[in-house]
Amino acid sequence: MAPSKPYLWICLALCVAMGGCDVFYNKTGDVVSMDCGTANSNKPLTWYHNNEQVIRVLTTTTRAKTELGKKVKLSESTLKVPSLKTADSGNYKCTGQDGNRKVTREHTVYVMSASASPSETVLHSTDLTLTCDINNSPTAQIRWMNKNKNTYESPGKSISLKSVKSTDSGRWTCQIEDNKRVETLVVDIAVLGPLTSPAEVTVPPGGSADLTCSLPSVSLPHVETGGWSHDCPSGLKFPTLQRGPEWKGENNSRVTFNKGNLKNDFKVTLNKVRHTDKGNYTCTVTFKNGQSLNTSVMLKVEVEKTIEGPKMNLWIWVGAAAALVLLIGLIIIIVLIHRRNKRMRRKVRKLRSVRQGLTPKNYCQCDRTDRQPHAGKRERPPPLPRYQYDIMD
Ligand SMILES: *[C@@H]1O[C@H](CO)[C@@H](O)[C@H](O)[C@H]1NC(C)=O
Ligand SMILES: *[C@@H]1O[C@H](CO)[C@@H](O)[C@H](O)[C@H]1NC(C)=O
Ligand SMILES: *[C@@H]1O[C@H](CO)[C@@H](O)[C@H](O)[C@H]1NC(C)=O
Ligand SMILES: *[C@@H]1O[C@H](CO)[C@@H](O)[C@H](O)[C@H]1NC(C)=O
Repeated sequence: MAPSKPYLWICLALCVAMGGCDVFYNKTGDVVSMDCGTANSNKPLTWYHNNEQVIRVLTTTTRAKTELGKKVKLSESTLKVPSLKTADSGNYKCTGQDGNRKVTREHTVYVMSASASPSETVLHSTDLTLTCDINNSPTAQIRWMNKNKNTYESPGKSISLKSVKSTDSGRWTCQIEDNKRVETLVVDIAVLGPLTSPAEVTVPPGGSADLTCSLPSVSLPHVETGGWSHDCPSGLKFPTLQRGPEWKGENNSRVTFNKGNLKNDFKVTLNKVRHTDKGNYTCTVTFKNGQSLNTSVMLKVEVEKTIEGPKMNLWIWVGAAAALVLLIGLIIIIVLIHRRNKRMRRKVRKLRSVRQGLTPKNYCQCDRTDRQPHAGKRERPPPLPRYQYDIMD
């Protein structure tokens, strides 16, 4: 970084031989002071920038109506250029008088700049261009380094970073090497995001759902606001994060959050989850530069049927088994009754045949043989005395 001594001596020798010259390597924003040698400040004095008059002191002071003309300051014969800009680079020359002798002095100013486009603060996954420039110097060599001292060389003044990540955040250093002089400039880059959350959260009804939403810590100082929203108007009140960063708002019976523990996770807990709470929850963070990031969590509430289902099946099975047992029991009873009836019938028939064998003579006397076949089929109590039948007929 320090200019090499031989070079300085050569420059000094040349300057002296040519009547005075200086080379300034300054950064944008710096102030540069250039003297006018031995020129007498009470004599007429004129300063030029690239051969255009900037300021002239005769009896009064005349300034050029340019930006440079308006901002330069003259102290005795020394010219001060504050808030250096790239456009202020170039050749500065003064003419004055030392007694009757004309005095001329020349300086060269190189304004170095390092910048990031579109901004030093960018969203992740976007492209970033780092430019390091030393105006009017075609011989300058430029090299960029990241915070891990990895070097990026490029034939031009710029390097392009595609789809930046949060790890690209931090200080980037540009080394400019010109005329054996090495100057360094820095740019502090902040890559915002990504904002991450689980794609979905599933909870049983009545349970608690943790809605997490985290940001790489390098992004935090750039946060303006952050918070959650639900895609259905459910009456849930979510807290808001304000620049600080600190959560504003109160815990309520449904939503709790931890004000003190906020580092890089905007976590809220949804309590006593209902079926109506299901849906899409979005965590949105806006940054000081007006950009914003969001991420969504799908909240799923378990359906009670999934728990009740097997129980219902069990009842069905129990019912079916009971019905089967009942059916088998019924069949057994029917069979038993049937068998009993059969036995009874056989007994009756036997009894009758025994009775027929005993009293054939008594009945044969009556003229009623046509009734015989019916008697066999019908189950009857032992017949009443025959004469009663005859009367009824
Ligand atoms: C401007 O450059 C000169 C020479 O390169 C240096 O001595 C001076 O300190 C610089 N000014 C600032 C404000 O850095
Ligand atoms: C909200 O409630 C949680 C748990 O009950 C507690 O840890 C937290 O500090 C509370 N936050 C605020 C902001 O009151
Ligand atoms: C959830 O909401 C976000 C933001 O509104 C949207 O980008 C995303 O597609 C939604 N997701 C679903 C599954 O609806
Ligand atoms: C979420 O971000 C996308 C871009 O990534 C944007 O299109 C969308 O509108 C945002 N959604 C909300 C709810 O802010």
